[in-house]
Amino acid sequence: MSELRFEDVSVRFGSRRRGLTAVDGVDLVVPDSEIVGLVGESGSGKSTLARAAAGLTPVSGGRILLDGKPIGAPARGRRGPNPVQMVFQDPYSSLDPRMTIGESIAEAMPRGVRGGARRAEVTRLLELVDLDGDRAHAYPGLLSGGQRQRVALARALAARPDVIVADEITSALDVSIQGTVLNLVVDLQRELGTSMLFISHNLAVVRYVARTIAVMYLGRIVEHGPADEVLSNPQHPYTRDLLAAVPESLHAESDRMPVGGLDGVALAEPADPHTPPTGCRYHPRCPVGPVVRSDREVCRTDAPTTEHLHLAACHFAPPLAVGPATRDASDAAGRGVPASGLHLDGRQKPADPTIDATTDPAPDTGAADLQGAS
Ligand SMILES: Nc1ncnc2c1ncn2[C@@H]1O[C@H](COP(=O)(O)OP(=O)(O)O)[C@@H](O)[C@H]1O
Ligand code: SF4
Ligand SMILES: [Mg+2]
Repeated sequence: MSELRFEDVSVRFGSRRRGLTAVDGVDLVVPDSEIVGLVGESGSGKSTLARAAAGLTPVSGGRILLDGKPIGAPARGRRGPNPVQMVFQDPYSSLDPRMTIGESIAEAMPRGVRGGARRAEVTRLLELVDLDGDRAHAYPGLLSGGQRQRVALARALAARPDVIVADEITSALDVSIQGTVLNLVVDLQRELGTSMLFISHNLAVVRYVARTIAVMYLGRIVEHGPADEVLSNPQHPYTRDLLAAVPESLHAESDRMPVGGLDGVALAEPADPHTPPTGCRYHPRCPVGPVVRSDREVCRTDAPTTEHLHLAACHFAPPLAVGPATRDASDAAGRGVPASGLHLDGRQKPADPTIDATTDPAPDTGAADLQGAS
Protein backbone atom coordinates (compact mmCIF):
# COMPACT_ATOMS: atom_id res chain seq x y z
CA MET A 1 0.00 0.00 0.00
CA SER A 2 1.08 3.55 -0.64
CA GLU A 3 0.66 7.25 0.01
CA LEU A 4 -1.99 9.20 -1.85
CA ARG A 5 -1.47 12.95 -1.87
CA PHE A 6 -3.78 15.70 -3.09
CA GLU A 7 -1.99 18.97 -3.74
CA ASP A 8 -4.16 22.03 -4.23
CA VAL A 9 -6.63 19.93 -6.23
CA SER A 10 -9.61 21.60 -7.88
CA VAL A 11 -12.34 20.07 -10.00
CA ARG A 12 -14.67 22.26 -11.94
CA PHE A 13 -17.77 21.21 -13.84
CA GLY A 14 -19.50 23.11 -16.61
CA SER A 15 -18.67 26.38 -18.25
CA ARG A 16 -16.99 29.40 -16.73
CA ARG A 17 -20.29 31.27 -16.39
CA ARG A 18 -22.65 28.48 -15.44
CA GLY A 19 -20.34 25.94 -13.91
CA LEU A 20 -19.38 25.11 -10.37
CA THR A 21 -16.21 24.27 -8.55
CA ALA A 22 -17.00 21.01 -6.77
CA VAL A 23 -13.52 20.66 -5.28
CA ASP A 24 -11.62 23.83 -4.54
CA GLY A 25 -7.92 23.74 -3.69
CA VAL A 26 -7.87 20.59 -1.59
CA ASP A 27 -4.68 19.50 0.15
CA LEU A 28 -4.93 16.09 1.74
CA VAL A 29 -2.65 13.14 2.39
CA VAL A 30 -3.64 9.52 2.83
CA PRO A 31 -0.48 8.13 4.44
CA ASP A 32 0.80 4.65 3.70
CA SER A 33 -1.20 1.96 5.52
CA GLU A 34 -3.66 4.37 7.11
CA ILE A 35 -7.34 5.11 6.80
CA VAL A 36 -8.22 8.74 6.36
CA GLY A 37 -11.87 9.58 6.86
CA LEU A 38 -13.42 12.29 4.71
CA VAL A 39 -16.68 13.60 6.04
CA GLY A 40 -19.10 16.30 4.96
CA GLU A 41 -22.72 16.68 4.06
CA SER A 42 -24.11 15.80 0.67
CA GLY A 43 -22.82 18.02 -2.13
CA SER A 44 -19.59 19.00 -0.38
CA GLY A 45 -17.46 17.43 -3.11
CA LYS A 46 -16.39 14.16 -1.49
CA SER A 47 -17.29 11.89 -4.39
CA THR A 48 -15.78 14.27 -6.89
CA LEU A 49 -12.49 14.17 -4.99
CA ALA A 50 -12.73 10.37 -4.84
CA ARG A 51 -13.41 10.05 -8.54
CA ALA A 52 -10.51 12.36 -9.31
CA ALA A 53 -8.22 10.11 -7.26
CA ALA A 54 -9.38 7.09 -9.22
CA GLY A 55 -8.84 8.91 -12.51
CA LEU A 56 -12.55 8.94 -13.29
CA THR A 57 -12.88 12.73 -13.22
CA PRO A 58 -10.20 15.07 -14.57
CA VAL A 59 -8.78 17.67 -12.24
CA SER A 60 -8.93 21.33 -13.25
CA GLY A 61 -6.05 22.36 -11.04
CA GLY A 62 -3.41 20.96 -8.73
CA ARG A 63 -2.24 17.38 -8.82
CA ILE A 64 -2.79 14.00 -7.25
CA LEU A 65 0.28 11.96 -6.44
CA LEU A 66 0.66 8.29 -5.67
CA ASP A 67 3.95 7.72 -3.92
CA GLY A 68 5.14 10.98 -5.34
CA LYS A 69 4.16 10.27 -8.95
CA PRO A 70 1.21 11.99 -10.62
CA ILE A 71 -1.69 9.64 -11.14
CA GLY A 72 -3.71 9.51 -14.33
CA ALA A 73 -3.74 7.13 -17.24
CA PRO A 74 -0.69 8.34 -19.17
CA ALA A 75 1.48 9.07 -16.17
CA ARG A 76 0.58 6.09 -14.07
CA GLY A 77 3.67 4.37 -15.26
CA ARG A 78 2.41 0.84 -15.00
CA ARG A 79 0.08 -1.37 -16.95
CA GLY A 80 -2.81 -3.32 -15.56
CA PRO A 81 -5.49 -2.42 -13.03
CA ASN A 82 -5.79 1.07 -11.64
CA PRO A 83 -3.64 1.35 -8.48
CA VAL A 84 -6.41 3.45 -6.92
CA GLN A 85 -9.51 1.28 -6.67
CA MET A 86 -12.93 2.61 -5.74
CA VAL A 87 -15.74 0.93 -3.89
CA PHE A 88 -19.00 2.72 -4.55
CA GLN A 89 -22.09 3.42 -2.52
CA ASP A 90 -24.60 1.34 -4.41
CA PRO A 91 -23.96 -2.38 -4.04
CA TYR A 92 -26.72 -3.16 -6.52
CA SER A 93 -25.16 -1.42 -9.50
CA SER A 94 -21.49 -2.08 -8.80
CA LEU A 95 -21.56 -5.76 -9.81
CA ASP A 96 -22.52 -7.08 -13.24
CA PRO A 97 -25.65 -9.21 -12.70
CA ARG A 98 -24.70 -11.48 -15.62
CA MET A 99 -21.37 -12.48 -14.13
CA THR A 100 -20.85 -14.83 -11.22
CA ILE A 101 -19.20 -13.35 -8.20
CA GLY A 102 -16.05 -15.30 -8.95
CA GLU A 103 -15.96 -13.95 -12.51
CA SER A 104 -16.43 -10.40 -11.27
CA ILE A 105 -13.57 -10.72 -8.83
CA ALA A 106 -11.30 -12.51 -11.31
CA GLU A 107 -11.96 -9.86 -13.93
CA ALA A 108 -10.35 -7.26 -11.68
CA MET A 109 -7.15 -9.26 -11.17
CA PRO A 110 -3.94 -8.32 -12.93
CA ARG A 111 -3.30 -10.12 -16.17
CA GLY A 112 -1.28 -13.25 -15.81
CA VAL A 113 -3.20 -14.81 -12.95
CA ARG A 114 -4.81 -17.79 -14.62
CA GLY A 115 -6.34 -21.23 -14.14
CA GLY A 116 -5.99 -22.76 -10.69
CA ALA A 117 -4.15 -19.76 -9.30
CA ARG A 118 -7.02 -17.56 -10.36
CA ARG A 119 -9.61 -19.79 -8.69
CA ALA A 120 -7.50 -20.02 -5.55
CA GLU A 121 -7.15 -16.25 -5.48
CA VAL A 122 -10.92 -15.80 -5.82
CA THR A 123 -11.45 -18.17 -2.89
CA ARG A 124 -8.81 -16.38 -0.84
CA LEU A 125 -10.36 -12.98 -1.49
CA LEU A 126 -13.86 -14.19 -0.69
CA GLU A 127 -12.66 -15.62 2.59
CA LEU A 128 -10.78 -12.41 3.28
CA VAL A 129 -14.09 -10.57 3.21
CA ASP A 130 -15.76 -13.24 5.33
CA LEU A 131 -17.67 -14.95 2.55
CA ASP A 132 -17.65 -18.65 1.80
CA GLY A 133 -15.42 -19.57 -1.14
CA ASP A 134 -18.36 -21.47 -2.66
CA ARG A 135 -20.05 -18.16 -3.27
CA ALA A 136 -17.81 -17.74 -6.30
CA HIS A 137 -20.40 -19.59 -8.38
CA ALA A 138 -23.35 -17.48 -7.23
CA TYR A 139 -24.77 -14.50 -9.08
CA PRO A 140 -25.05 -11.12 -7.33
CA GLY A 141 -28.84 -11.35 -7.40
CA LEU A 142 -28.67 -13.96 -4.67
CA LEU A 143 -26.71 -11.75 -2.30
CA SER A 144 -27.81 -9.19 0.25
CA GLY A 145 -26.57 -5.61 0.04
CA GLY A 146 -23.98 -6.25 2.74
CA GLN A 147 -22.70 -9.35 0.96
CA ARG A 148 -22.47 -7.41 -2.28
CA GLN A 149 -20.36 -4.74 -0.61
CA ARG A 150 -18.08 -7.50 0.65
CA VAL A 151 -17.74 -8.75 -2.90
CA ALA A 152 -17.09 -5.19 -4.08
CA LEU A 153 -14.29 -4.94 -1.51
CA ALA A 154 -12.90 -8.30 -2.64
CA ARG A 155 -13.03 -7.10 -6.22
CA ALA A 156 -11.15 -3.92 -5.31
CA LEU A 157 -8.52 -5.96 -3.46
CA ALA A 158 -8.23 -8.34 -6.42
CA ALA A 159 -6.69 -5.51 -8.40
CA ARG A 160 -3.89 -5.38 -5.82
CA PRO A 161 -4.35 -1.66 -5.42
CA ASP A 162 -2.04 0.76 -3.72
CA VAL A 163 -4.98 2.70 -2.28
CA ILE A 164 -8.69 1.98 -1.89
CA VAL A 165 -11.20 4.80 -2.01
CA ALA A 166 -14.41 3.74 -0.28
CA ASP A 167 -17.21 6.17 -1.08
CA GLU A 168 -20.20 5.88 1.27
CA ILE A 169 -19.94 2.11 1.19
CA THR A 170 -22.33 1.61 4.08
CA SER A 171 -24.81 4.37 3.29
CA ALA A 172 -27.10 2.21 1.18
CA LEU A 173 -27.07 -0.70 3.61
CA ASP A 174 -29.53 -1.65 6.28
CA VAL A 175 -28.57 -0.24 9.64
CA SER A 176 -28.31 -3.81 10.94
CA ILE A 177 -25.52 -4.71 8.53
CA GLN A 178 -23.61 -1.45 8.34
CA GLY A 179 -21.67 -2.48 11.40
CA THR A 180 -20.41 -5.76 10.01
CA VAL A 181 -19.13 -4.07 6.86
CA LEU A 182 -17.34 -1.42 8.94
CA ASN A 183 -15.79 -4.12 11.09
CA LEU A 184 -14.58 -5.77 7.92
CA VAL A 185 -12.95 -2.53 6.77
CA VAL A 186 -11.17 -2.19 10.12
CA ASP A 187 -10.05 -5.84 10.03
CA LEU A 188 -8.81 -5.60 6.46
CA GLN A 189 -6.84 -2.51 7.30
CA ARG A 190 -5.20 -4.25 10.25
CA GLU A 191 -4.50 -7.40 8.27
CA LEU A 192 -3.38 -5.95 4.96
CA GLY A 193 -2.18 -2.48 5.93
CA THR A 194 -4.57 -0.98 3.44
CA SER A 195 -4.20 2.71 2.61
CA MET A 196 -7.72 3.98 2.32
CA LEU A 197 -9.67 7.16 1.80
CA PHE A 198 -12.91 6.36 3.57
CA ILE A 199 -15.74 8.71 2.71
CA SER A 200 -19.03 9.19 4.50
CA HIS A 201 -21.52 11.92 5.30
CA ASN A 202 -21.83 10.20 8.67
CA LEU A 203 -19.27 11.34 11.21
CA ALA A 204 -20.02 8.43 13.52
CA VAL A 205 -19.12 6.00 10.75
CA VAL A 206 -15.93 7.81 9.80
CA ARG A 207 -14.91 7.99 13.42
CA TYR A 208 -15.16 4.25 13.74
CA VAL A 209 -12.70 3.41 10.99
CA ALA A 210 -10.38 6.38 10.52
CA ARG A 211 -7.24 7.44 12.29
CA THR A 212 -7.28 10.84 10.66
CA ILE A 213 -10.36 12.86 9.79
CA ALA A 214 -10.77 15.57 7.19
CA VAL A 215 -13.97 17.61 7.16
CA MET A 216 -15.14 18.97 3.83
CA TYR A 217 -17.55 21.82 3.26
CA LEU A 218 -18.55 23.22 -0.11
CA GLY A 219 -15.49 21.95 -1.93
CA ARG A 220 -12.92 22.77 0.72
CA ILE A 221 -11.32 20.93 3.63
CA VAL A 222 -12.25 23.00 6.67
CA GLU A 223 -10.64 20.89 9.40
CA HIS A 224 -8.11 18.09 9.34
CA GLY A 225 -6.31 16.21 12.06
CA PRO A 226 -6.02 13.07 14.16
CA ALA A 227 -9.49 11.60 14.65
CA ASP A 228 -9.32 11.68 18.45
CA GLU A 229 -8.32 15.31 18.50
CA VAL A 230 -10.77 16.48 15.89
CA LEU A 231 -13.60 14.69 17.65
CA SER A 232 -12.73 15.67 21.19
CA ASN A 233 -11.73 19.24 20.45
CA PRO A 234 -13.16 20.33 17.09
CA GLN A 235 -11.93 23.72 15.94
CA HIS A 236 -14.30 24.53 13.09
CA PRO A 237 -17.94 25.37 13.82
CA TYR A 238 -19.01 23.12 10.95
CA THR A 239 -17.26 20.14 12.52
CA ARG A 240 -18.99 20.94 15.77
CA ASP A 241 -22.32 21.06 13.97
CA LEU A 242 -21.65 17.65 12.45
CA LEU A 243 -20.72 16.32 15.87
CA ALA A 244 -23.78 17.80 17.49
CA ALA A 245 -25.87 15.76 15.05
CA VAL A 246 -24.33 12.51 16.28
CA PRO A 247 -26.65 10.96 18.86
CA GLU A 248 -25.59 11.21 22.47
CA SER A 249 -25.19 7.46 22.74
CA LEU A 250 -22.32 7.55 20.26
CA HIS A 251 -20.35 10.24 21.99
CA ALA A 252 -18.72 8.07 24.62
CA GLU A 253 -15.57 6.32 23.59
CA SER A 254 -16.43 2.72 22.97
CA ASP A 255 -15.91 -0.08 20.53
CA ARG A 256 -19.61 -0.25 19.97
CA MET A 257 -20.56 -0.04 16.36
CA PRO A 258 -22.03 3.22 15.18
CA VAL A 259 -25.14 2.72 13.14
CA GLY A 260 -27.96 4.83 11.88
CA GLY A 261 -28.58 7.56 9.39
CA LEU A 262 -26.87 10.56 10.86
CA ASP A 263 -27.27 13.34 8.43
CA GLY A 264 -25.06 15.98 9.92
CA VAL A 265 -26.43 19.45 9.56
CA ALA A 266 -28.85 18.47 6.84
CA LEU A 267 -31.63 20.46 8.43
CA ALA A 268 -29.79 23.72 7.98
CA GLU A 269 -30.02 25.69 4.76
CA PRO A 270 -27.53 24.22 2.29
CA ALA A 271 -25.41 26.59 0.26
CA ASP A 272 -25.64 26.69 -3.52
CA PRO A 273 -22.30 25.50 -4.94
CA HIS A 274 -22.89 27.57 -8.08
CA THR A 275 -22.72 30.73 -6.00
CA PRO A 276 -20.65 29.93 -2.93
CA PRO A 277 -20.75 32.56 -0.18
CA THR A 278 -17.96 35.12 -0.11
CA GLY A 279 -15.35 35.06 2.61
CA CYS A 280 -15.81 32.00 4.76
CA ARG A 281 -18.18 29.74 2.86
CA TYR A 282 -19.79 28.65 6.09
CA HIS A 283 -20.62 32.16 7.23
CA PRO A 284 -24.38 32.15 6.40
CA ARG A 285 -24.85 29.08 8.59
CA CYS A 286 -22.18 29.56 11.20
CA PRO A 287 -23.62 29.68 14.74
CA VAL A 288 -20.71 31.84 15.90
CA GLY A 289 -20.24 33.83 12.69
CA PRO A 290 -21.40 37.22 11.42
CA VAL A 291 -25.08 36.28 11.38
CA VAL A 292 -25.05 36.26 15.18
CA ARG A 293 -21.95 38.33 15.93
CA SER A 294 -21.66 41.78 14.45
CA ASP A 295 -17.98 41.89 15.31
CA ARG A 296 -17.26 39.07 12.88
CA GLU A 297 -17.90 40.81 9.58
CA VAL A 298 -14.48 39.64 8.46
CA CYS A 299 -16.06 36.21 7.91
CA ARG A 300 -18.20 37.66 5.10
CA THR A 301 -15.30 39.20 3.25
CA ASP A 302 -12.09 37.25 3.91
CA ALA A 303 -11.61 33.57 3.23
CA PRO A 304 -9.93 32.01 6.25
CA THR A 305 -6.65 30.21 5.72
CA THR A 306 -5.91 26.88 7.34
CA GLU A 307 -3.15 28.27 9.53
CA HIS A 308 -4.99 27.20 12.63
CA LEU A 309 -5.09 24.26 14.97
CA HIS A 310 -6.24 21.13 13.08
CA LEU A 311 -5.73 23.21 9.93
CA ALA A 312 -9.18 24.61 10.67
CA ALA A 313 -10.27 27.16 8.09
CA CYS A 314 -11.84 29.52 10.61
CA HIS A 315 -10.59 33.01 11.42
CA PHE A 316 -11.30 32.43 15.07
CA ALA A 317 -9.79 29.03 15.63
CA PRO A 318 -6.58 29.11 17.66
CA PRO A 319 -3.49 29.57 15.53
CA LEU A 320 -1.47 26.53 14.64
CA ALA A 321 1.28 27.55 17.03
CA VAL A 322 -1.02 27.09 20.03
CA GLY A 323 -0.35 23.68 21.52
CA PRO A 324 -2.88 21.23 22.94
CA ALA A 325 -2.21 22.28 26.52
CA THR A 326 -3.45 25.82 25.89
CA ARG A 327 -6.37 25.06 23.64
CA ASP A 328 -9.07 25.45 26.27
CA ALA A 329 -7.97 28.95 27.09
CA SER A 330 -8.16 30.06 23.48
CA ASP A 331 -11.79 29.24 22.91
CA ALA A 332 -12.11 32.21 20.63
CA ALA A 333 -14.51 30.69 18.14
CA GLY A 334 -17.17 30.71 20.82
CA ARG A 335 -17.79 26.99 21.01
CA GLY A 336 -19.43 25.29 23.92
CA VAL A 337 -17.44 22.13 23.52
CA PRO A 338 -15.18 20.63 26.13
CA ALA A 339 -11.61 19.87 25.12
CA SER A 340 -11.82 16.26 26.18
CA GLY A 341 -14.42 13.56 25.96
CA LEU A 342 -17.13 13.40 23.37
CA HIS A 343 -20.03 14.84 25.25
CA LEU A 344 -20.66 17.46 22.66
CA ASP A 345 -23.50 19.87 22.67
CA GLY A 346 -21.93 22.95 21.15
CA ARG A 347 -24.73 23.45 18.66
CA GLN A 348 -27.29 24.02 21.35
CA LYS A 349 -25.16 26.41 23.33
CA PRO A 350 -24.98 30.05 22.38
CA ALA A 351 -21.67 31.70 21.69
CA ASP A 352 -19.92 32.46 24.95
CA PRO A 353 -21.02 36.01 25.84
CA THR A 354 -18.02 36.44 28.12
CA ILE A 355 -15.65 36.33 25.21
CA ASP A 356 -14.54 39.78 24.30
CA ALA A 357 -14.00 40.03 20.59
CA THR A 358 -11.00 42.22 21.14
CA THR A 359 -9.22 39.30 22.78
CA ASP A 360 -9.74 37.04 19.78
CA PRO A 361 -6.62 36.14 17.90
CA ALA A 362 -6.20 38.23 14.80
CA PRO A 363 -7.65 36.55 11.73
CA ASP A 364 -5.27 34.13 10.10
CA THR A 365 -2.31 34.84 12.31
CA GLY A 366 0.75 32.68 12.21
CA ALA A 367 2.63 31.49 9.19
CA ALA A 368 3.55 28.04 10.33
CA ASP A 369 4.63 25.44 7.86
CA LEU A 370 1.36 23.71 7.03
CA GLN A 371 2.94 21.02 4.93
CA GLY A 372 4.90 19.89 7.93
CA ALA A 373 1.83 19.97 10.12
CA SER A 374 -0.23 17.76 7.90
N1 LIG B 1 -20.60 15.36 -13.31
C1 LIG B 1 -21.03 16.46 -12.70
N2 LIG B 1 -21.43 17.54 -13.39
C2 LIG B 1 -21.84 18.67 -12.79
N3 LIG B 1 -21.88 18.83 -11.45
C3 LIG B 1 -21.50 17.79 -10.69
C4 LIG B 1 -21.04 16.56 -11.25
N4 LIG B 1 -20.73 15.70 -10.25
C5 LIG B 1 -20.97 16.37 -9.10
N5 LIG B 1 -21.43 17.61 -9.35
C6 LIG B 1 -21.77 18.64 -8.38
O1 LIG B 1 -20.60 18.84 -7.59
C7 LIG B 1 -20.96 19.07 -6.24
C8 LIG B 1 -20.26 18.04 -5.37
O2 LIG B 1 -20.86 16.78 -5.64
P1 LIG B 1 -20.31 15.45 -5.01
O3 LIG B 1 -18.85 15.37 -5.24
O4 LIG B 1 -21.12 14.33 -5.52
O5 LIG B 1 -20.57 15.69 -3.46
P2 LIG B 1 -20.74 14.65 -2.26
O6 LIG B 1 -20.13 13.36 -2.70
O7 LIG B 1 -20.01 15.29 -1.13
O8 LIG B 1 -22.20 14.53 -2.00
C9 LIG B 1 -22.47 18.99 -6.17
O9 LIG B 1 -22.97 20.31 -6.23
C10 LIG B 1 -22.84 18.21 -7.40
O10 LIG B 1 -24.12 18.56 -7.86
S1 SF4 C 1 -14.54 32.07 9.82
FE1 SF4 C 1 -16.31 33.00 10.81
S2 SF4 C 1 -18.13 32.21 9.71
FE2 SF4 C 1 -16.36 30.91 9.20
S3 SF4 C 1 -16.47 29.22 10.60
FE3 SF4 C 1 -15.12 30.74 11.54
S4 SF4 C 1 -16.43 32.03 12.84
FE4 SF4 C 1 -17.77 30.84 11.44
MG1 LIG D 1 -20.96 11.43 -2.69
